[in-house]
Amino acid sequence: MRILVVGSGAREHALCWSLAASPLVKEVLCAPGNAGIARDARLVPIASEAIDDIVRFAVSERVDLVVVGPEKPLALGLVDRLQAAGVRALGPSAAAARLESSKVFAKDFCRRHGIPTAAYRVFEARERDAARAWIEARGAPIVVKADGLAAGKGVTVAATVEEALAAVDAAFGGAFGEAGARIVVEEMLEGEEASLFALCDGTRALVLGTAQDHKRAFDGDRGPNTGGMGAYSPAPVLSPAMIERVMNEIVRPALAGMAAEGAPFRGILYAGLMIGPEGPKLLEFNVRMGDPECQVILPRLMTDFGQLAFGAVDGVLASMSLRWYPNHALGVVLATRGYPGPVQRGSEIRGLETLNGLEETLVFHAATRREQGRWIADGGRVLTVVGTGATLAEARDRAYVAVARIDWPEGFFRRDIGWRALARSATD
Ligand code: AMP
Ligand code: GLY
Repeated sequence: MRILVVGSGAREHALCWSLAASPLVKEVLCAPGNAGIARDARLVPIASEAIDDIVRFAVSERVDLVVVGPEKPLALGLVDRLQAAGVRALGPSAAAARLESSKVFAKDFCRRHGIPTAAYRVFEARERDAARAWIEARGAPIVVKADGLAAGKGVTVAATVEEALAAVDAAFGGAFGEAGARIVVEEMLEGEEASLFALCDGTRALVLGTAQDHKRAFDGDRGPNTGGMGAYSPAPVLSPAMIERVMNEIVRPALAGMAAEGAPFRGILYAGLMIGPEGPKLLEFNVRMGDPECQVILPRLMTDFGQLAFGAVDGVLASMSLRWYPNHALGVVLATRGYPGPVQRGSEIRGLETLNGLEETLVFHAATRREQGRWIADGGRVLTVVGTGATLAEARDRAYVAVARIDWPEGFFRRDIGWRALARSATD
């Protein structure tokens, strides 16, 4: 089988690495990928949002399966187009991708199907005064979210009413373009955040692992929100009993609801959760793997991911099950200074070759290029360094030993990935 992975981040590197190890897979291709991914896949110079070109390429190269990493091409209908052209693809249709691409759709969907989530109201741009009045009446803390895809920047968890009103004005003032033409204002949920991933074939779901992300840029959960600065798997707050609740109260109702509404969900459903005193509540759905969560989940997966991907696409997950290595994985993201703001590309990363052969250590590339034998940083998030081990502490130590060998003054990383779970295990 030949598989094409769409995307260019460390998530897609982990997908390529995992698929390349599958006995079913003869060749992995990646569009557009990056220089690090080239070790595990043949790069195809097509941008991940150039969906016409991807469809044309997949047909002419007769690829057996396309695995779509990021949300944008899914929302643009890449999977619909591939299916129409007779190419199998892992990922939801554009209609099913609305669970991520429209927060208004997702919230109303939860209400229709009894899925627990924060109480909310939706406002259109012409209802700015009503939005402001509602926020003033409810008081802070309160959460303001732009409706559409805003690259993780459309959410404000406001500690004060002023901050919330400023977020309303920013969204309706065009800060997120079309994505901010409608907003969701919702109650702030308390608890511990965690993510559960479910591999879905339209009717059945298998738990594709749990993880906890670190969204803030700096140690101690300070600084601006990012795409994610590190993660670990499994998430201890998602005990087997809690996973069962999430599946019964959130994932299975969502699958049944999407099927009933004529948009069955095939692909990976990412449930961003708040685990509070009353149990799990949904913060958001995403319709793809997380980045960096993917980089800590796939190294723990014993079952062949290639086989699972075909199983989901072919609708036969009912006959499959998942096995995991009994280990922990922890990933540290290295980013160019200035991220999540604009960054200067082009600095050299030294020492990467000294990581080759390090025990239970993996390096996934998000944005690198090669220049005369040197590794050059080419974006915001640049690498995810993953350690695995029998305990989370061991996984963390391996990851940071590897990070310490990387000589890159223009980069930064968080030194406290895993702190919450490590503090919990210290007091257990
Ligand atoms: P979202 O993109 O909707 O997941 O929001 C981004 C981040 O904002 C989440 O990962 C949470 O940390 C936080 N957040 C979103 N909604 C809420 C909420 N209702 N209560 C508390 N925190 C939230
Ligand atoms: N790490 C968060 C995300 O992938 O959305």
